[in-house]
This record gives sequence, structure tokens and C-alpha cells, in this order.
Amino acid sequence: MKFVHSFLFVIACFAATAGYAQRDKAVSPLLNQPERYVYDKDLLDLSFHMQRREALREMMPANSAAVFFTNPVRNRANDVDFPYHPDPNFYYLTGYREPNAVVVIFKDLQTIDGKKTTDVIFVQDRDPAKEVWEGRRYGKEGTKNILGFSVVKLNTDFEDFISALKKYETVLITGTPKGAVNESRSKADLYDMSEAFKSKSGYPDGNINSNELRGMMARLRQIKTEEELVLMRKAIEITCEAQVELMKNLNPKMTEYQAEALVEYVFAKNGAEHVGFPSIVGAGENSCILHYITNRRQLTGSELLVTDIGAEYHGYTADVTRTLPVNGKFSPEQKIIYELVLKAQEAGIAECLNGKAFRDPHNVAFKIITKGLIEHGIIKTDSETGNYFMHGTSHYLGLDVHDPGTYGKLEPNMVITVEPGIYIAEGSDCDPKWWNIGVRIEDDILITRGDPVNLSESAPRRVVEIEKIMAGNKATGTTK
Ligand code: GLY
Ligand code: MN
Ligand code: MN
Repeated sequence: MKFVHSFLFVIACFAATAGYAQRDKAVSPLLNQPERYVYDKDLLDLSFHMQRREALREMMPANSAAVFFTNPVRNRANDVDFPYHPDPNFYYLTGYREPNAVVVIFKDLQTIDGKKTTDVIFVQDRDPAKEVWEGRRYGKEGTKNILGFSVVKLNTDFEDFISALKKYETVLITGTPKGAVNESRSKADLYDMSEAFKSKSGYPDGNINSNELRGMMARLRQIKTEEELVLMRKAIEITCEAQVELMKNLNPKMTEYQAEALVEYVFAKNGAEHVGFPSIVGAGENSCILHYITNRRQLTGSELLVTDIGAEYHGYTADVTRTLPVNGKFSPEQKIIYELVLKAQEAGIAECLNGKAFRDPHNVAFKIITKGLIEHGIIKTDSETGNYFMHGTSHYLGLDVHDPGTYGKLEPNMVITVEPGIYIAEGSDCDPKWWNIGVRIEDDILITRGDPVNLSESAPRRVVEIEKIMAGNKATGTTK
């Protein structure tokens, strides 16, 4: 299939170049090089997206169509937008990464524009003036040839197509886009398509079903294919490398944002396009804020630093947390809490077995943490555990950091996190010697037919390993 992909790609480049030159000769020569649009050679192959559409069709009810909108462009301020990120379901099914697009997938073979097809995608047109500012677009030709769609229409055709959806018994939809903004200069941006859909399809009534498509996508996406696992392993390896670099360089002279800069440099250096979520880098009192992303504090030396990070590589994100003593050595209290979280995590990972309930790793981790907190006099009964361990232990991981899934039984090729934590904020109802100790340890676990595979094990997490790596750090408080 790789060969077919490359062959189609060459044809696409040729076709797109020729088409482009014909349409607008006056345009900057920069735009006459659409082959330079795809720089990465290890993107998911078009066969992956085709197979995912097929897998969805198998789940769809008789005589149905499924409509997916991609994500809106989100404005940051004035004329600056946030970097664009497609909707993960849309990306999974199409590979298309530009905004203002819709895909419709049919249960049964259709004839559209004289072609037999099981799907139709509506994309934004090429636009020489815009491409000079914002970069190249696939257009109809690129979408056909690079992504393998046989019927591609322009997004300006979507409105007229909507009435054709009336003839299906069921039109499945996960929802209409939230936060789409009407761009006055665009005739068919996501807002226009979404509004047209709402007014012309009978949404949310008639043959529209907004309840079941999310569940179908969760069933598909929770089981990773081998192609997806290649990208996930890469995202996770990059993230582990960043964690190790942090261990090797962390010292009390740094700030939280410098620790953040260091890990995100490693991400970018290795080709990760984005962070999968804003990096959580919290020291001391901030180690007790679960999703702390301010990252502005000066480190001191005697505190713990929680670093919860994930590189996003070709859409797939890692999610790995390590907790480090800023001065290179855990204090006795820090070590007690750290070892307790680690014990809970290892027991949780051991539960990541085919056929176990999704909640089993959490239940095991929760019990161990409860017992330890009672033994150390931090709580009296398990009704208090939630004061210090206030989140679940696991979630699915994939295109989203909190990926969709059914939360039923664990099955081979699921990837889930195991991430217990203990957070003892200042002022907590316990001996102040425990205050400001926040610990989370998070790994990404592949469920198999046999033992769990820890995909993030290359970032060490035992106390002796961490202290050994950090002992070599320049400017490390207690070791130099
Ligand atoms: N990084 C967010 C989480 O661990 O769920
Ligand atoms: Mn995390
Ligand atoms: Mn997580």
C-alpha cells in the first residue's frame, strides 16, 4: 500500500501543479510546488483512514449516513488564531488536516456525480491569495489523490447536498461544531455549513440520531491498530526522552517555565508538532494543583516538581508524569509519599490485563493509597482518601489525551494511563510535615493478550534511579 500511496502522491503532485498553473498563472511561484505540502513521510497511510471508514460502516445501521464536521478555527485575539487542530474523529476517518470540511459516510454504496462511492468529503477550495499568507491547501485534487477519496466536493456544495440526507432512514451525527465563527468573507466556512445543516436537515429531529455515533467512534478508537501504535510509541518515546533530559538538568536555580521549555524543546527537536495538552510543571505548593499550567514559579531546592507532559506526534499524544526532588534527593516525608504512589501504580499496572474491568487498576491503587495514608496517620478512614487522591487512575490515550472509550472490559490494543497520585496541600488536616507534597506517577500501558506493556518505561521512576541520574546535575543543591 505504501507504493500505491507514493504513486498516488506523485500523480497528485503532478495533477495539482498542472491544475494550479492553469487556474492562476499570476500567482507567486511558491504556490506551484504543492508536493512540498507533505513533508512528513510517516503520516498515517491513506489505507488506514479508508479502513477506519469501512470499520465504521460495518457498525452503522441499515440505510444510514454519518456526518462529521471538523473543528472550527479558534480565534486567539484580533487577527491571530490558535494553531489549527482538526477534530480527532474527523482526522481519524479522513486524514484531512485543514479547516472548514465535512465528511459523510454511507452504509450502502451510493452513486454520486456518476461515481460509485461509500463516502463524500466537502473541502475548502484552493485560494491563491489566501495560500500566500497561510500556506498550501489540498483542494479537490489533493484530497482525491493524496487522501484517496473518490468523490470530493467543495464545501460550498454542502448546503445543496443536505436535502439528499432526507432519504436515509438514519443520519448519525456526534453533534454540530461548538464555537464556529462566521467569517464574513467565506461563503462556506464551518459556521455556514453547520447552520445550513441545522436549518435544512431537520436537526435535531426527524431522521437525525445524535446519540449513537459517539459510542461507535469510542468502540473504534479504543482499540489501536498497529499503524496507530507506531505513532503512539514515537510520541511516548519522545516524551520519555524529555523526562530523562529534565532529570539530567533539573536544579534549584531553574524556574518551572525553564523546566517546561526544556521538555518542550525535546518534543520539538524530535518532530512533535504540538503538545497533546498544556504542560503541567508544578513545584512545591503547585505540585498539589492537578492541572497546574501557569508554570511561572522559581524553584527552591527542597520541594517536589510534578511534570505531567505529552508530546503529540502526527496527531497521537503521550501522557507521562514524573515527580522529581528539585535538589536531587527525596526528603524522608517525600520519599514515603512517593514510594506509596509508586506501589499503588505498580499494583495498578499489574491489573492491566485482558478481560479485567476498566476500573480495576483504580480500585487496587485506591486501596493501597488508603492503607498507606492511614498507616502514616494522614487519614483515619477510607472516606478521607479522596481528600488527597481526588482523580481516577486511568483514562484511554490516543488522538486525544483523554481518548474516547467504552469503559467496559480491558481488551488487547487498548492504551490506557495508570496514574495514581497523592496531593497534600498546605493547610490540610494532617501533620504539617506532609504539606506541599504532591506526587503523581503516570505511565502509558498497552493491553495485550499477555502481560501489560509499559510503553513509557524508558523514563525511570524508582527513587534510586531518579536520585542516581540527578546526582550528576550541575548546581543540584544537596549533591554538589
Ligand atoms: N495530563 C492530564 C492527565 O494526566 O490526565
Ligand atoms: Mn498526565
Ligand atoms: Mn493522564
